[in-house]
Parts: sequence; structure tokens; C-alpha cells
Amino acid sequence: MNLVVFGAGYVGLVTATGLAELGHSVVCVDTDPARVAALRAGDIPIFEPGLAELVTRNVREGRIGFETAVPAAARTADAWFIAVGTPPSKDGSADISAVLSVAETIASLAERRALVVVKSTVPVGTGDRVQALLDGGSRLGLEHVSNPEFLREGTALEDFFQPERIVCGVRTPWAEERMRALYTPLQLEASQVQITSVRSAELCKYAANALLALRISFMNEMARLCDALGADVRDVRRALGSDSRIGPRYLYPGPGYGGSCFPKDVQALAHFGRDAGVTLLTVEATHETNERQRGWVVDKVLRALGPNPVGKRVALWGLAFKPETDDVRESPALAVVTKLLAAGVEVRVHDPEATDNFLRALQASVGAAAERVVRCERALDAVDDADALLLLTEWRSYRAPDFPALGARMRTRTIVDARNVWGAAGVSALGFAYHSLGLGPRAGDPTP
Ligand SMILES: NC(=O)c1ccc[n+]([C@@H]2O[C@H](COP(=O)([O-])OP(=O)(O)OC[C@H]3O[C@@H](n4cnc5c(N)ncnc54)[C@H](O)[C@@H]3O)[C@@H](O)[C@H]2O)c1
Repeated sequence: MNLVVFGAGYVGLVTATGLAELGHSVVCVDTDPARVAALRAGDIPIFEPGLAELVTRNVREGRIGFETAVPAAARTADAWFIAVGTPPSKDGSADISAVLSVAETIASLAERRALVVVKSTVPVGTGDRVQALLDGGSRLGLEHVSNPEFLREGTALEDFFQPERIVCGVRTPWAEERMRALYTPLQLEASQVQITSVRSAELCKYAANALLALRISFMNEMARLCDALGADVRDVRRALGSDSRIGPRYLYPGPGYGGSCFPKDVQALAHFGRDAGVTLLTVEATHETNERQRGWVVDKVLRALGPNPVGKRVALWGLAFKPETDDVRESPALAVVTKLLAAGVEVRVHDPEATDNFLRALQASVGAAAERVVRCERALDAVDDADALLLLTEWRSYRAPDFPALGARMRTRTIVDARNVWGAAGVSALGFAYHSLGLGPRAGDPTP
């Protein structure tokens, strides 16, 4: 099929490249000229494992091209994908203006009947507005489909090629048949392509993210309780996770969820729930708990630094909101560093991929204060003369550091492990004060 994908971000670029790899002919359109120029020059503007190789191959083989506007030859596309951003507005609602503007563009350009597939995460009812724009601007019978994206950054290609499910909210059997044809090359089981109404498809994306976020917030509260009561959150998690009704995933405490999806989608869901006259108490509480979690981590660091943190030095490992991505949107590191700077602490940071993005985002948020943050190219350099090491993102390269070497370079052997990865690394025996999130009084002791 001939396809146009709007948006060359995490979702658009992965979708466009994945569809090209399946043999479709794809034009990927992004309004950011710098992004398009980079892609044309072979530079991939985001870090996503395996993506660069796949883009290069599909460009070389002529199945994908990058443009700032839709070229004339692409106006006869069989399907148009909308994968542009839906950032949060000030009041927490989703800003869908880019989605609606692309729908108008499609209505004005399309030269034949086609699908218009919204992959962006949009509040329930947006699809009806998209369809109205298509109907108002074109007589060709353009048909909106809601096809929410479930990929996870870091494993986005795997998620594209082996999805657990594909949800298609359709209006007609024609659209259903076309959507099934589009994804046929993935050779999925029939039950993996879930056909729903448009409104159900729109809602299930928010529901999935809110439920995953709720599990994380719940475990963060359990970790706090473990700290207060002397229990070990690993034991609690094991017991919970082995219950087949619960399952083991998304039960890890941490510095609070971040990224471009959970924080904004949880707030947007709460918002359109309120608009619909339904107060979603668990969803509201999920967000509130997450906000507090960042503060809890900072309090731990400040307590570990002693009564006067001014001028103390903290080494921070991990700036991306999770490993294997350079995305820092809503990363806990932003809130944590902002609070540490406000407390007069010196901060030295390291991340394998996300430092540039982080410093840019911090600058945008706190201005000149961001210049006080020292970037380090090597993780070990960050700990020089540090009074504490704070682990915020559990990149693989941080899993097994040379603790004696690390301790030798620090001023004070203090670790705040906000991912609980070193709880059994025996760091106490090496003279470190070890602070975890709910691992209990013996955390940091050597494994028996
Ligand atoms: N990032 C994820 O992990 C993820 C996962 C599932 C769903 N989503 C959803 O997918 C959507 C896109 O997210 P993302 O992370 O890819 O965003 P992103 O910010 O990485 O990319 C969006 C891209 O769209 C471009 N753009 C904006 N307006 C445009 C227009 N009018 N025409 C063409 N391009 C335009 C921007 O320049 C940018 O490159 C959001 O709704 C998000 O909630 C994201």
C-alpha cells in the first residue's frame, strides 16, 4: 500500500519505518525542518535500539522518504497515519490541535478514498471531530480509524513487529478489512487484532496507561510503607506477582513514572472523566502519588547529606525517564535536580544517551540555574568528591559498578538507590551507607 505518516517522533518514525519494512511504500511527513533534514542525511533524531539500521535500509531500498510537506505523488495514498504529539495543556487536558490540523490537511489534499488512522493518543470523542473535518473538507469518503499505539520506548521495534494486540476502532466493515490487510504481514493470530468502536479504542489506550501507572504508584506507596514499618518491598512484590490474578510486571518501586505518556495520559484521563461527569478517584490519586514520589526521593537524598546540604555534592546516574531511550520528557530526574539545586546542592550528572536532552529540558524549565549542573562523560567521573550517589535510571551499564573504585573517588560513601538495583550487592560491607526504596533494614548487606 502507499502510506503517508504524519510525525517523525518516537511513534511516527517507528510506525513509518516498520510499515516500510513490511513492504509498504511510505512517506513520513514532519513539520520540523531540522528533523527532516537530519533524517535525510541519515541521522536519526531519537535513540531507539535498532531503529537507525532499519531506517537506513528502507531509505536505501526506496520504501521510505522524509518530507516537510506532502508531495504531490503521495496524495493518492491508501492510508494516512496521524502520529503527531498530543502534549498536555496547562489544565492537564490533552492538546489535540496538531491532530486536528493534520486531519484538515489530509481532507484538503487526498485525491482518493482512504483510511485516516489516528495513532496519537487522543481523548474519547476526538475521532468524531476528525471524521467531521474529513467529511467537511472532502467528498471522497475519507474514513477515520482509531488505532492507538502501545509501543514502549526502548523496545519500540519489537513492539511494532510482535505486538501483543492491535486495537482498531472502526466505523465500517470496509475500514476493518483495510486495517486487517495493512497488518496482515505481521502474521498475527486473529484474536490479536481487536476490532472495536472508535470510542472504545480511544478509551482503552488511556485505560491501559492509567492502570499501569496505578500499579507503579501503588508499589511506590508500598515501598514507603515498607520503609516506615521495616518490611522488604521485594518480598511484598514477589508475593503479589506470583498471584496469577495480579502478575509480576509494573510492580517495581522507583522515583515515580515519567516519559511522554503515563504522566500526561493519566492527567488527561482524569480531565475528560471530570468533563463527562465521572470523577476517577484512583486515576487522580495515581497522579498525586507520583508527584509526591519525586519529593520522597529528594528527601531521602537530603537526609543522607546531613543537616546542611548547601554546597554538598551529589552524583546522579540516569537522566532518561527509563533505560534504552534518550527521552527525558517528564523524567523524574528533572524534578529531582530542580529540587536539589533549590536546596543548594551541587549536582554532577551522567547518562549514556540522554544528557543533551536533559540539559536542554532543564534549561527550559529553570533557566540559568541549569548551568550549575556539571555533565560528566563517564559515570565514574560524576562521583568525584561526591557526598552521595543517586541512581535514578537503571541503565544496564550501572548494574554492576566497581564499588571499591567508586567509593575511593567519593568524599562520603553514601548511595541512594532509587531503583533498588544494588540491594543485594553487599555495599554496606564496603563501607557505604545504602538507602533504598523500601528494601528493609538489611538492604545493602552482603547476600547470605
Ligand atoms: N512515545 C511513546 O512511547 C508513545 C507511545 C504510545 C503512544 N504515544 C502517543 O503518540 C503520539 C506521538 O508521540 P511521540 O512520542 O511520537 O511524539 P514526538 O513529540 O516524539 O513526535 C511528534 C512529532 O510530530 C511532529 N509534528 C507536530 N505537528 C505536526 C504536523 N502538523 N504535521 C507533521 N508533523 C508534526 C513533531 O515535529 C514531532 O517530530 C502522542 O499522542 C503520544 O501520546 C507515544
